[in-house]
Amino acid sequence: MSVAQHLIIVTVGLLLGFLRPTSAGVPLPRYEAMLKQQSAVEDPSLGLYDDTDKVVRLNVDNFNATVLDQNRGALVEFYNTYCGHCRRFAPTYKVIAEHLLPWSEVLIVAAIDCAAEENNGVCRDYEVMGYPTLRYLGPGFQPSAQHYGQSLLTQDENEIRGLLAGMLAAENMTSSHNNTLWPSFHTITESDSASSLFEGLSSVKQYVAVIHEPENSTVGIETALFLLNWPAVEVRRVQDAKVAAKFKIEPTNLSLSLVDRKGVITAYAAENADSASYAKKIEEVLRQKNITPRPAKLVQPRTTVATKTAEQNDLIKEVQRNKHFVYQADLEQAIRTVLHNEVAKVAEISGERLLALQRFLTVLQRYNPLGANGHKLVNQLKDYVVQFNEQLSGEQFEQELKRLEAHLLPVYSSTHFVGCAGSKPRLRGFSCSLWTLFHFMTVQAESNEDSSDPLEVLQAMHGYIKNFFGCTECAEHFQAMASRRKIWSVPNKEEAVLWLWAAHNEVNQRLAGDDTEDPEFPKQQFPSPNSCPECRRSPDTKSENLEIEWNKDAVLGFLRNIHNPQFVSRYGIQREELLHPSVDKMRQKRQISSVFTDMDMRMGMLLYAFCIVMMVLAFKLFAFKGYRKKPYGHDLLGKV
Ligand SMILES: Cc1cc2nc3c(=O)[nH]c(=O)nc-3n(C[C@H](O)[C@H](O)[C@H](O)COP(=O)(O)OP(=O)(O)OC[C@H]3O[C@@H](n4cnc5c(N)ncnc54)[C@H](O)[C@@H]3O)c2cc1C
Ligand SMILES: *[C@@H]1O[C@H](CO)[C@@H](O)[C@H](O)[C@H]1NC(C)=O
Ligand SMILES: *[C@@H]1O[C@H](CO)[C@@H](O)[C@H](O)[C@H]1NC(C)=O
Ligand SMILES: *[C@@H]1O[C@H](CO)[C@@H](O)[C@H](O)[C@H]1NC(C)=O
Ligand SMILES: *[C@@H]1O[C@H](CO)[C@@H](O)[C@H](O)[C@H]1NC(C)=O
Ligand SMILES: *[C@@H]1O[C@H](CO)[C@@H](O)[C@H](O)[C@H]1NC(C)=O
Repeated sequence: MSVAQHLIIVTVGLLLGFLRPTSAGVPLPRYEAMLKQQSAVEDPSLGLYDDTDKVVRLNVDNFNATVLDQNRGALVEFYNTYCGHCRRFAPTYKVIAEHLLPWSEVLIVAAIDCAAEENNGVCRDYEVMGYPTLRYLGPGFQPSAQHYGQSLLTQDENEIRGLLAGMLAAENMTSSHNNTLWPSFHTITESDSASSLFEGLSSVKQYVAVIHEPENSTVGIETALFLLNWPAVEVRRVQDAKVAAKFKIEPTNLSLSLVDRKGVITAYAAENADSASYAKKIEEVLRQKNITPRPAKLVQPRTTVATKTAEQNDLIKEVQRNKHFVYQADLEQAIRTVLHNEVAKVAEISGERLLALQRFLTVLQRYNPLGANGHKLVNQLKDYVVQFNEQLSGEQFEQELKRLEAHLLPVYSSTHFVGCAGSKPRLRGFSCSLWTLFHFMTVQAESNEDSSDPLEVLQAMHGYIKNFFGCTECAEHFQAMASRRKIWSVPNKEEAVLWLWAAHNEVNQRLAGDDTEDPEFPKQQFPSPNSCPECRRSPDTKSENLEIEWNKDAVLGFLRNIHNPQFVSRYGIQREELLHPSVDKMRQKRQISSVFTDMDMRMGMLLYAFCIVMMVLAFKLFAFKGYRKKPYGHDLLGKV
């Protein structure tokens, strides 16, 4: 760009800045158009599963009807959409649902998104504290104190299948349910014979399949479940090797046989010694005999898959241009999710957890980015919570929150993420905004005299993450990192800002290239060389060099800048009138800076300064006498 072009840009910029009535703050047309489009909200109830999956989607409206007091069991996953570990586990869970589809008369595979606020009550009632949580709810299940289903403490598909098989086989059929398709899980004993196997069986059953099931294995139970849709066959398991031999089974090679009503026993060898292979072999044999399965039941139509809108694309593009900006919308979303979802869904808030909540609200009250109504909300909520010194329930908290919000309406100036919006649904979001909120608070604390405690914000954050953050894996990592990085020895508020910055960078480094990474927002060491060239002492070093030599003073200055409330971007909010008005001018400045590059801006500043010097000189030359005569400079300026 030539100097002349710069001059034109600067002139236009100055005109925009000066000629406009500053109070109106008219945005550039393109920007204005974007603001209008911001009403398109990403569907928060989207969850991790959709129509293409075999996972039954539960929510507050269908939960009881689907899993309580049924004649079949349910495997339920309680998850949070924003929890990285839940996202990583989702593909496995989809596979489990797909593979266990033939079991559906006896067990369904379901999931509920605890990050959707409407489901708070369910997740609270079931006392879910880690995400994802897998629970088995048996047939006839009714929740009661201390009984919220049986937890499965593994995320391995084979282990889950085995555990489920064991629990299903242990159900007491006479008392808990009434399901004619429920297989007989009794093992074959010495007294059984080829003909006795058919005693009491419906005439539909043409064959009994005998499966050898070694000790501590559930391969026979699983095979029976896989063949639920084949009414012509009854599957029985045999554990004793001698009894197995009676049915022509040599446990080493031939692990299954079919018995027909005439008492003829035929042995077969499956490809592998697992239930899927056994079931496959039996199905193959039955098909050869022209026997067919029941037609498969269709599972759940419903809900459409959200697609990325043009508006979202524009939003992402805008944010991409200013990746390091801190956005008002994200700070608000973080607070809203914390209060409405994370705290509200904890069943009992007592002891350390209550203290953590009180600490969190105390720092939030001090460094609150919300507008006037939001200040009142947090103040009153804090007053409410500090009254309790024993315990408080999440339900009580939620009721008080809703009561206050209804009273103080409107509180929030936006309804969705901006800087934390992902390029695809389910990416980024809450965890991104939570980092942002805590960085924001450490920076505010630094310039605030109300507290001299350097650990104030870090301690509140640590307590919050440990006790409320619905990303369980994150919370565990964070606690380990906090003690490794000696969080409790941070000496002053500047170091607190830098501590969090460095800790966040450690997480960024660990997660770079992870499945949960948004390809449009790759994890980088922050700030990037583009955002803050002076933050790195050796700007040329490529990212492969993990040891970046930071200029910590520059980093601190940079963090102070981007978290300065005057510079927090209001891009994408809908109700600016709720916020303090003072930022109007700064926003205009930012509009200009988002149109012109940093280089342009720096050139512009130079020329701007130059112009002012020239004006002062001109002023002195032409108005020197007048200045002498009249004591008030602004009278003269009025004439200029
Ligand atoms: C306490 C905590 C622990 C977490 N632990 C895990 C975990 O163990 N496993 C896991 O999968 N996910 C974890 N997460 C989530 C993960 O860190 C990200 O939040 C998530 O992957 C979304 O990433 P993002 O790209 O939106 O950027 P984020 O990392 O969320 O960052 C948000 C914004 O902060 C700014 N920023 C980035 N780095 C810094 C920095 N060093 N200093 C100041 N500002 C910065 C950037 O503008 C960025 O857009 C954790 C989150 C939190 C809050
Ligand atoms: C679901 O059942 C539980 C326990 O029986 C009950 O407390 C709750 O109110 C029910 N929820 C709905 C939405 O009906
Ligand atoms: C099964 O339930 C019946 C009826 O409630 C009860 O009599 C029986 O003892 C139960 N059996 C087992 C093994 O729990
Ligand atoms: C079991 O189901 C049958 C037929 O659907 C019904 O008549 C019977 O009352 C049920 N028994 C129980 C205990 O639910
Ligand atoms: C089966 O499990 C029991 C209890 O866990 C154990 O003692 C036994 O050794 C196991 N048997 C085999 C064959 O693994
Ligand atoms: C069983 O397998 C062994 C080796 O794996 C083989 O030598 C033997 O012949 C097999 N027996 C039968 C009956 O197939």
